[in-house]
Amino acid sequence: MPSILSSLDSVARSAFEALGFPSQIAAVRASDRDDVPYQCNGAMAAAGITKKRGEKLNPREIAAQAVAIMSADPAIGSLEIAGPGFINITPADDLITRRAEALLADPAADLKADISKTIVVDYGGANVAKPMHVGHLRSAVLGEAIKRILRAQGHTVIGDVHMGDWGLQMGHLISELAEEQPDLPYFDDAFEGDYPSEPPVTMDDLARLYPQASNKAKSDKDRMELSRVATAQLQAGRRGYRALLDHFIDVSVAALKIGYGNLGVEFDLWKGEACVDPLIPDMIDDLKASGIAEQDDGALIIRVAEGEKDKTPPVMLLASSGAVLYHTTDLATLIDRKAEINPDLIVYVVDQRQALHFEQVFRGAVKAGWYDRGQLFHAGFGTMNGKDGKPFKTREGGVLRLEDLMEIMHEAARDRLDSSGIGADFGPEERTEIARKIGLAALKFADLQNQRMTNYIFDPERFTAFEGKTGPYLLYAVVRIKSILRKAAEMDVESGAFHIEAETEKQLVLSLDAYARAIELAAEKYAPHILCEHIYTVAQSFSRFYADCPILADDVPDAVQASRLSLAKATLSQLEHGLDLLAIEAPDRM
Ligand code: ARG
Repeated sequence: MPSILSSLDSVARSAFEALGFPSQIAAVRASDRDDVPYQCNGAMAAAGITKKRGEKLNPREIAAQAVAIMSADPAIGSLEIAGPGFINITPADDLITRRAEALLADPAADLKADISKTIVVDYGGANVAKPMHVGHLRSAVLGEAIKRILRAQGHTVIGDVHMGDWGLQMGHLISELAEEQPDLPYFDDAFEGDYPSEPPVTMDDLARLYPQASNKAKSDKDRMELSRVATAQLQAGRRGYRALLDHFIDVSVAALKIGYGNLGVEFDLWKGEACVDPLIPDMIDDLKASGIAEQDDGALIIRVAEGEKDKTPPVMLLASSGAVLYHTTDLATLIDRKAEINPDLIVYVVDQRQALHFEQVFRGAVKAGWYDRGQLFHAGFGTMNGKDGKPFKTREGGVLRLEDLMEIMHEAARDRLDSSGIGADFGPEERTEIARKIGLAALKFADLQNQRMTNYIFDPERFTAFEGKTGPYLLYAVVRIKSILRKAAEMDVESGAFHIEAETEKQLVLSLDAYARAIELAAEKYAPHILCEHIYTVAQSFSRFYADCPILADDVPDAVQASRLSLAKATLSQLEHGLDLLAIEAPDRM
């Protein structure tokens, strides 16, 4: 069944239509007032329309006419005209009950979009061997939520990690390894046999070799040249270097799978920049042949500025050294995705500081005729900052490693548990597991509840608080309902038919009702914070309901207990469903 909101919306729209007005002016929305749930402000716009027509009706008159039509509909509980002509709407009790039944039966009811699309979400974007930084963290957390929200709408969504594995960092690694272990067959041009299947390095080696090389190269031009040459030779297809690259990728992917796995982030595709390299020569030829790419000062570019005043710099396909660039691999990836997936839409969840890069790439792809502009979207995001207002770093000032960040959160969560006495009588293993879940929920919710583009400050203490709009508060809400249900089972109290009477009960159902709309908006704007806000509202509504309406107390009649238990179940399943879309996991108890 449609949500209560959309049922009321239809009623208001058809009333205004019957009065000869366009239906869209009658849209119903949640009211700002606490005492009435919904309102329709169509009468004001309608009055404006009559003025133009020369009839000049006042809004209160129009509202009265609309109310006369609307009141006959069984969805309506009561209507009231307020102020200059606002129509306040309270839904019928029966509608609330039926909606509660539908929500209990299926928390994912009515989430599906009208048209199901094939969508690629490009997120994560970790670089092989380079440690992940907070930008990668945000991309993973936001991207995972966006992917799951779109999936909940019934789209076919493919998450691609799109690793950075084709740039200078590979040259750094190769040349540094060549210095440390020059006797490896990968460096021997005369070697014609099969290279070893075992990688010559571990993840720890890679994590050491990369900063070692990049630090040296910073102050030493000759050392930098070695990395450049290695990169160029790799990209030109030198056999031993390709074999090394494959090893580096395998070793990194194994480590990344663990890192992302610990974060609850899963990818369908583990592709990277290197895997589209074979497509580049043909792409360049085609772009040259069609006149889209042109030579400029030795480089190969695509001009993408639109008009005289537009200063957007060109797409760089090939540097004058012949090197392939970040634009090039992203364009080749667009060709690969078209051939392999043919998506209706590609969403890039990448740091807002790369906005220009994507603008250029998108314009290039449109100019080449591969995609329409509407098929490509950069969902940028702001940075997670330290207390100094700059992008968060470790205490030593280095880039933050994901493991370290998770350890910081885990510790903050453990401190919270200790100081609050929550779970004090649980065993050490369970406490550790609970702290892990709290730490992750705290981090993710803190990240997701902000509008994507805003920067926010990393504050583990605030993130892990059990009060306020935090991950732990929501986990606590879930755990509390789970414990009510467990206790009910012990007491042999069963859930049953709804009798929704108390105001806080109705409020809770209306809060739950808004889920479908929240998902719709969150998907439309790639904005998980809208879902966060919804989940938080539901948790608060439940709290108010539970404070007002005891469930398991002795003096509560059986039928009332059964109904309230059903309401608790419906709330739990929606909270769990919603948190799962944010990739947040709750413990069973705490
Ligand atoms: N590896 C890149 C970085 O670390 C992010 C990749 C984003 N995705 C893309 N298709 N360019 O900045």
